[in-house]
Amino acid sequence: MTRGAPATLEVRGVHKQYGGKSVLSSLSFDVARGEFLALLGPSGAGKTTLVRCIAGLTVPERGEIRLDGVNVLELKGRERRRIAVVFQQFNLVPRLSALQNVLAGRLGHVPSWRGVLRRFTRKDQLLALECLDRVGLIDRARQRADTLSGGQQQRVAIARALAQQPDVIVADEPIASLDPQSSAGILELLRDISRNDGVALVCSLHQLEFARAYADRIAGMTAGAVVVDVPAGQFDDSVATRIYGLGLASAQA
Ligand SMILES: Nc1ncnc2c1ncn2[C@@H]1O[C@H](COP(=O)(O)OP(=O)(O)O)[C@@H](O)[C@H]1O
Ligand SMILES: [Mg+2]
Repeated sequence: MTRGAPATLEVRGVHKQYGGKSVLSSLSFDVARGEFLALLGPSGAGKTTLVRCIAGLTVPERGEIRLDGVNVLELKGRERRRIAVVFQQFNLVPRLSALQNVLAGRLGHVPSWRGVLRRFTRKDQLLALECLDRVGLIDRARQRADTLSGGQQQRVAIARALAQQPDVIVADEPIASLDPQSSAGILELLRDISRNDGVALVCSLHQLEFARAYADRIAGMTAGAVVVDVPAGQFDDSVATRIYGLGLASAQA
């Protein structure tokens, strides 16, 4: 537990609407370095919108998201690397190798891919190889991303996030497209990165059991608000009812 540790990521009174409809309302919570926060909530609760706001991909109408006291929207250039994003659909460049995809994590922007390798220093290339090794895929470095399995592609995406040397990783349902065994491997990896590298990790999940097994804390969202924020060990049937409006057994069905 890291409760009491200084917050790295602060979400403060975030409000977001689409077409006059509130999607996030007065959302506030903190995440510390080394802490794994799982976001749970039914479909449409606003998890993806929140992840996009943290990543600076969507701008809230009110409120602020701060990284070590700095509004994430003010992170410019190289500073933007401090927040890495992992997506459900991996978002790799299919025709590029695993290594080239990881190297993309060293860029502050989406590059033009022509001659992409020449733009990287030897140091960057070694770092990218280390990141691939960390996720168990050093032997796949030269393999095209679209020939890897889903679980392997998500590992490459995590290696790309690692290559950013981030302070925060936000992951939007990173295991929703994977089988249970690959899912467990991915969450173990994310937990290990959060703990050992001191990364503040926010990860939306559909599965309660995975959240309980891997997260330090669980925040439950309903209709754009955080209705529950508890240590994972305290997550029980009554808490699930507050998020999903039904019992744990039915929520998992
Ligand atoms: N770009 C958008 N334009 C309009 N409505 C959106 C947009 N993105 C999300 N929404 C709406 O916001 C609500 C929350 O969506 P989302 O953040 O995707 O929830 P979740 O990830 O929890 O399923 C939904 O009602 C969705 O239809
Ligand atoms: Mg979503």
